[in-house]
Amino acid sequence: MTDTTAMEEAAALGDRLGDLVSRLTLEDKVTLLTGRDFWTTWPLEHIGLRRMLISDGPSGVRGEVWDERSPSINLPSATALSSSWDPEIATRYGAVSALEARRKGVDVVLGPTINLHRSPLGGRHFEAFSEDPVLTAELAAAYVAGVQRNGVGATPKHYVANDFETERHTADVRVGDRALHELYLLAFEKAVVQSRAWLVMSAYNSVNGTTASENDLLETPLSSEWGFDGVVISDWTAVRSIAAAAASQDLAMPGPEGPWGDALVAAVHAGTVTEAAIDRKVQRLLLLAARVGALAGFEDVATEPVDTEDGVAFAREAAAEGCVLVGNDGLLPLDRDSVSTVAVIGHNAREARTQGGGSATVIPASVISPLDGIRAAFPDTAVTYELGAVVQEGVVQLPPSAMHNPVTGGPGAHVRFLDGDGAALYTEDRFASSLVYFSGDAPVGEAAVIEFVTRYTPDHTGELLIGFAAVGTGRIFVDGELVAEVAAASTSKDAGAALLAPPSVSAAVDAVAGQPLDLRVAFAPHRTAESTRHALSLTVGIEADQSDPASKIARAVEAAEAADVAVVVVGTNARVESEGYDRVGLALPCAQDELVRAVAAANPRTVVVVNAGSPIEMPWRHEVAAVLVTYFGGQEYGNALADVLVGDREPGGRLPTTWAAEQADVPVLDVTPRDGVLAYDEGIHIGYRAWLRAGREPAYPFGAGLGYTTWSLGPVTVVDDAEGWVLEVPTTNTGHRAGKQVVQVYAARADSSIERPVRWLVGFAVVRADAGVTGTARVHVPRRALAHWADGWRYETGKFTLQVGTSVADLPLAVEVEVGV
Ligand code: BGC
Repeated sequence: MTDTTAMEEAAALGDRLGDLVSRLTLEDKVTLLTGRDFWTTWPLEHIGLRRMLISDGPSGVRGEVWDERSPSINLPSATALSSSWDPEIATRYGAVSALEARRKGVDVVLGPTINLHRSPLGGRHFEAFSEDPVLTAELAAAYVAGVQRNGVGATPKHYVANDFETERHTADVRVGDRALHELYLLAFEKAVVQSRAWLVMSAYNSVNGTTASENDLLETPLSSEWGFDGVVISDWTAVRSIAAAAASQDLAMPGPEGPWGDALVAAVHAGTVTEAAIDRKVQRLLLLAARVGALAGFEDVATEPVDTEDGVAFAREAAAEGCVLVGNDGLLPLDRDSVSTVAVIGHNAREARTQGGGSATVIPASVISPLDGIRAAFPDTAVTYELGAVVQEGVVQLPPSAMHNPVTGGPGAHVRFLDGDGAALYTEDRFASSLVYFSGDAPVGEAAVIEFVTRYTPDHTGELLIGFAAVGTGRIFVDGELVAEVAAASTSKDAGAALLAPPSVSAAVDAVAGQPLDLRVAFAPHRTAESTRHALSLTVGIEADQSDPASKIARAVEAAEAADVAVVVVGTNARVESEGYDRVGLALPCAQDELVRAVAAANPRTVVVVNAGSPIEMPWRHEVAAVLVTYFGGQEYGNALADVLVGDREPGGRLPTTWAAEQADVPVLDVTPRDGVLAYDEGIHIGYRAWLRAGREPAYPFGAGLGYTTWSLGPVTVVDDAEGWVLEVPTTNTGHRAGKQVVQVYAARADSSIERPVRWLVGFAVVRADAGVTGTARVHVPRRALAHWADGWRYETGKFTLQVGTSVADLPLAVEVEVGV
């Protein structure tokens, strides 16, 4: 289609939608601009508009309910996806999300999260792609395209500078215009300009003094410069004022209460907000409805799904693509035939984190742990397991296989919502003991007590710490006896965090393995905020036995000594990384460093697998044979890990963010606002740019990662094209097996008159080649990648060096290009 035809078609569509808007009363229009409930928008039958269902995202699609009876595919988290450095994987990831969305009746996916890894302490680091804006932008645009070509709306979020969690609702980010444009806005720009995102989510925080939902940035550059014609949806409860309606905020979520409603109608009558502004918002909402097929008479605008993909198989492939091998003395890949015993060690080996906590959570039908995956990959080999160190903090849900519902006689638990007189308002039968309600039929806001009943069969004799995680007071009954009445108070002022990462309490109970306990928890919620009155999260479960850490390590050492190979899976837990709070440090929780050192001393053939969503310190990294960073690998994590360990698949990842040897070395660390302000004083120097400027060496540089083969690169040729330059880099697999390489191009400018990073990423390409074969990395470097922001994009004329290699610290090749006047 030519540009002129496209513009004519857009204008004609605008007219049709405009006609529809003109048939609505002001009250109707304003109603449409606040959600109908937690996840849906209002339908309007007389114009053929059905409700639209919106769902988190971004690593799978949860759907309307948070419930094990309606499971979703759990894809690897964003840091694993970005480690692939592969836009094709990101597009397929988006497509799988869209197919999941369609299966669940979801019209809009709340993802991708494309804030930056400004500090490794950022609590939602696992959910965002990278410290680099270009890598983030390429993957964001690809993800959005994959979602939307299947007729589902994507929502790049959170616009903008929402790169930390402390005081996230109120913090004011002070950031210069240059850093804003060159770093924090860049991925939003690409997702909008290139992939025409149908929505963008405004953030909670303020930017330079104005909260995001009222900020001029919603108009300029988003709409006025990038041509965004979609819906600015708020983060949940981020609209706080009529001023947001006067700004370019379109839709306030959730509903039905909110600051707009009657007050907005009155503001229009008073002339504070123009009706034209309301019409524009409604027209955008209707355009979205047309795009997702929610508006009768506009079927010509809707996109039918084009992709088919086996989501579970993709989850396995993507997890392997996201594994970054950062150290290997030759032990990997393991030769299955020569290994007779594998000792698998670590809490996360048995109970892996396959996703981060908070709103990104989905409930998969099943999860393959590293232990499961390794056992399946070594069917004829002895695989032993030792815990080594407890990583869990607080209670975790009861194993579903150990729960028996006394009411149905089947597996699971019986749950009742009781009023103040003890009468049942609602009952349900569940198969899990972690219950989260944001919407649905359960009368969460009305219930005085939620009662959870199951017959639980322990697998261990001795003291059991039975309890719950939730904000409120619970009475715990075992075999009809009250064993404890305990209250858990929220430690967080953030209502969302109080819900999604609640405090936990427990009481000691004597148990005998195999002997069932009748367990009843009667829980009275303590409602912390009106906005979450109708939401509830309650996990009934068990705390880990923290006793005698030395003997746990000693047993792991014994197992390692007796094995040919030890695989230690270390990682974080939900208290360390989640939404709603930042991390307090980069060290691994609990006694895991000590565990790795002891195991490595016992067996030189030790592989450490890092199951964390963000960088951790690895003080033992030179003492082990191999280190594999796997992030949160999704539901097929264990299978993917085993594929990589035995070499059925290449460890496809390269680090999307610098990993420090020690926290003290990290140049940009601070995530704590002072007097409500977080100043991004480092300007354009975050991530590897800051490391280079400070002249410090990290443990593992940005872009680094090993495969199982060797490569040679070059010579580079460069040709000009209309928009910049195309570099062609012959990339030869000089080893003995097929592999993947990520060729990276960084720009540098000697003697610049402008303050610049030492070097910055301007393009990259994935090459896959068989042994002995030369592939070609074709890297497009747009001219804009050499521009800087000074009240507009400006070009410093003259020569730039383009450095080519396989990480920011390994750039053996270079060419020069010239920016003319
Ligand atoms: C998060 C968003 C999420 C929304 C809905 C908010 O607390 O910041 O990322 O999409 O909740 O769950």
